Amino acid sequence: MAETKKIAVIAGDGIGPEVVAEAEKIIRRTEEVFGYSFTTEHALFGGIAIDEKGTPLPEETLQVCKSADAVLLGAVGGPKWDNNSKELRPETGLLGIRKELGLFSNLRPAVVFDCLKDASTLKPEVLEGTDLMVVRELTGGIYFGEKFRREGAGGEEAVDTCAYSTAEVERIVHQAFEIAQKRRKKLASVDKANVLETSRLWRETVNRIAPQYPDVELEHVLVDNCAMQLLRRPSSFDVIVTENMFGDILSDEAAMLTGSIGMLSSASMGEGAFGLYEPVHGSAPDIAGQGLANPIATILSVALMYRLTFGYEDAADAIERAVAEVLDEGHRTADIAVDKSKALSTTEMGDLIAAAIR
Ligand code: NAI
Ligand code: MG
Repeated sequence: MAETKKIAVIAGDGIGPEVVAEAEKIIRRTEEVFGYSFTTEHALFGGIAIDEKGTPLPEETLQVCKSADAVLLGAVGGPKWDNNSKELRPETGLLGIRKELGLFSNLRPAVVFDCLKDASTLKPEVLEGTDLMVVRELTGGIYFGEKFRREGAGGEEAVDTCAYSTAEVERIVHQAFEIAQKRRKKLASVDKANVLETSRLWRETVNRIAPQYPDVELEHVLVDNCAMQLLRRPSSFDVIVTENMFGDILSDEAAMLTGSIGMLSSASMGEGAFGLYEPVHGSAPDIAGQGLANPIATILSVALMYRLTFGYEDAADAIERAVAEVLDEGHRTADIAVDKSKALSTTEMGDLIAAAIR
């Protein structure tokens, strides 16, 4: 029997509880099939925590997360809290939890399932074989730099500053190389080193670290070129590492290669194996409570957790294989169905995937 691992489960708002319930089904199924052992502890976060505890990120939720090996998060937010003051907004809780847990990178896989190639706006032959991961720096860069207004010759001026320290670049670049070593051993480092000083430091740092990973093939790509190449030759990328703002934009671009927001998983990582895993999509208030949500993004987030936090490659592979198999058999939730009248509910999709795990 494997050592028992603890997962903090934060269902959140909107479709969050619906998709998280299916992910928990998958966790239980992998215990049966592979003999792994997990305890799950639920905690309040986001809008529901504002309603029940008066804050989006209650202290006890933070303690549950800190005492766990990994966090599984559904989604937070909704129109009910949109007009709240900043401290009482679910999104403030998201920034807070990342900071408190020391998470500095966001990992987003973009995998094109063969049978869903038609769901994308790109040609199937361009997408064939696409399986990449964007590693985005989360704590530095222009989003967190000094901002101010001043009077200039041409009237009022606004200034945003972009800063990165060597240590900030080093930690994420090491992480990206290590991820590449576990995948197809290719790393694209994206910057704008022809014009930005932060990018020059970024590139120097990558080049200094690269000899420690001789088995990984490294390329430097300028961000504008990367935006083009993602549409032209997406299957040639394996791991892409980049700073905060470039990563924000490129990860959304990469996400759209796959065609559906309901299929995209993500991880936020710090030092070590601890991670927070969540679907890329939000709380989808428009379809909440109707059993229409696609649970696959959250289920694939569990696979990512098994791979990155626990090293349970066999169970991670089995989950991904089960998803592909169920899709290959033609099963669809409404968001990815051509014939919506035949679409499965959230729980039906979860049941089929659980049963396909062997
Ligand atoms: P959204 O991702 O919630 O929804 C966008 C569209 O995609 C909607 O039409 C929705 O029905 C659909 N969709 C999303 N997930 C789906 C799924 N699993 N299955 C089927 N269809 C799905 O983004 P939106 O509408 O911009 O935001 C809604 C709320 O979610 C807002 O309050 C926003 O702040 C919050 N949000 C939270 C995030 C998080 O918790 N990390 C991330 C993004 C948004
Ligand atoms: Mg974005």
